[in-house]
Amino acid sequence: MSQPSPTRSPFHPAAATDEWWRSAVIYQVYPRSFADADGDGIGDLPGIASKLPYLRELGVDAVWISPFYPSPQSDAGYDVADYCDVDSLFGTLADADALIFRAHDLGLRVIVDLVPNHTSDRHPWFRRALVAEPGSPERDWYMFRDADPEDPERPPNNWESVFGGPAWSKSPDGQWYLHLFDSSQPDLNWENPCVREAFEGVLRFWLDRGVDGFRVDVAHGLVKAAGLPDAAQTTEELQGEGMATSAAPYWDQDGVHEIYLAWRKVLDEYPSDRVMVAEAWVEPYARIARYVRPGEFQQAFNFSFLDAAWDASALRECIEESFRANDVVGAPTTWVLSNHDVIRPATRLALGPEHFASQLGAPIPAPDPALGARRARAATTAMLALPGSAYLYQGEELGLFEVLDLPEEVRQDPTFHRTNGRRLGRDGCRVPIPWQADAPAYGFSESGAAWLPQPARYGDLAVDRQEGRSGSHLELVRTLLAMRRERGLGTGSFDFVDLGTGSGAAAGADAVAESGGAAGSGAAADIVAFDVTTAAGTTRVVLNLGASAWPIPADHRVLVASDPTVTDSVPTDRVAWFAID
Ligand code: NOJ
Repeated sequence: MSQPSPTRSPFHPAAATDEWWRSAVIYQVYPRSFADADGDGIGDLPGIASKLPYLRELGVDAVWISPFYPSPQSDAGYDVADYCDVDSLFGTLADADALIFRAHDLGLRVIVDLVPNHTSDRHPWFRRALVAEPGSPERDWYMFRDADPEDPERPPNNWESVFGGPAWSKSPDGQWYLHLFDSSQPDLNWENPCVREAFEGVLRFWLDRGVDGFRVDVAHGLVKAAGLPDAAQTTEELQGEGMATSAAPYWDQDGVHEIYLAWRKVLDEYPSDRVMVAEAWVEPYARIARYVRPGEFQQAFNFSFLDAAWDASALRECIEESFRANDVVGAPTTWVLSNHDVIRPATRLALGPEHFASQLGAPIPAPDPALGARRARAATTAMLALPGSAYLYQGEELGLFEVLDLPEEVRQDPTFHRTNGRRLGRDGCRVPIPWQADAPAYGFSESGAAWLPQPARYGDLAVDRQEGRSGSHLELVRTLLAMRRERGLGTGSFDFVDLGTGSGAAAGADAVAESGGAAGSGAAADIVAFDVTTAAGTTRVVLNLGASAWPIPADHRVLVASDPTVTDSVPTDRVAWFAID
């Protein structure tokens, strides 16, 4: 039935495929929670190195490793005290070299995290700035401002920290310094050429060691509006329950782009296609696309996809808007459902939309685990078919859920403490990975230590319980990644398919536009269906979000399905990939 007509141009045409990052599947490792080789209860670089064969076998192309640099760990390493070394908690520089070498040997690329918006207050740059005079060149590395002479207790403006409370703290001599995050994370002054020069040095330091790229933290925050005007909305109003941002005098200022144009030139001096991926929580999606214009980032996380409600028209709209915006600038879309800042999909997707996205929000009720697991499998199955790159966060391949009941005394996220527990924070998605069901700390650490307690239910989701078990979440992801490779998915052209007409017509961009983003009618309106055409043929993907099962037509051959219940129909909250005979 609905094969796209060969004469009609696809909604999203195929892009060049010789650049690895356009279609790569990249696995995020959160070092403190991945694998602990030295038994101190905190994961480390040798631990990561020991698990690289597992990642190779999973079928990913690259790993992104969250910060492992010297840090007081006030924000789990996103408070960097030295950009060019390794925290002894995680190992040594030699361990980092060995990890990069081992990964390359296995055919895995390595992306490291760069945190340029702020340093730790223990960074020598900030220590130097604190003891220097107001107005001195040392202070100019950061955002210091004089106190209001009429009211020295009033911060220079009304900006609030993303983690709660004011975004300003007072230094001992009475000047205030800006910190968009914790008070131990002072914002750098990116108007200062010395800061720009220093970071180019940091890029080169890691590029020389062989890394394949950088994930750039808070890429939308480095430049602040001139004069630091008051914000019209509070951080909470800007964020809702999540970290998504909209216009504010400290987010997404046009001036950030020239920084990335300069960085890209540095990367391009190096051989073998080094990349930058932007963490930019900006809206609408067209603003994200500005970060991936030619000569800037190659990738920017598609947080609209992560934030999208579990609803067919919301998902269709998001996919359509993403392709439209990125096609204009010639960039791939970078799909993402999870990371170390948001509620794990196996929990989030079973909650109402009011709880979506970030775990920075208020405490949430425990949702139905079976529903969450089913939807998480479906979401991953749909995502991995879409043209573009995709990121998986450690444990996503196991279907790990958010740990909602961590006791207060173990919580470490500054959000929890800065809001006196009013906002729960992100510890629940950072609980150490279960590798072996019957081992101490589920195999995370031989000593049995784990920096956050793992729940009993993690045992059933341990790698060794899922490995080789047909129908397990892990085996599903392995199959999806193998089939993605075989079918050339991640590349290719994309077309929405309207399953509602029964006429065999494909619903391309025009049909989507005419129907205001809703394909078909009745039950078909609750289905997201699309074709991806690559050199290997057309793969049809059907995601059923409606109440009734979608009967599989005779000419549709199931390649892989999110769930074993997909046999002669695709039931609610399931996805299948098809070849059409
Ligand atoms: C985004 C990171 O992903 C998050 O974990 C961190 O707390 C903030 N940026 C501040 O660096």
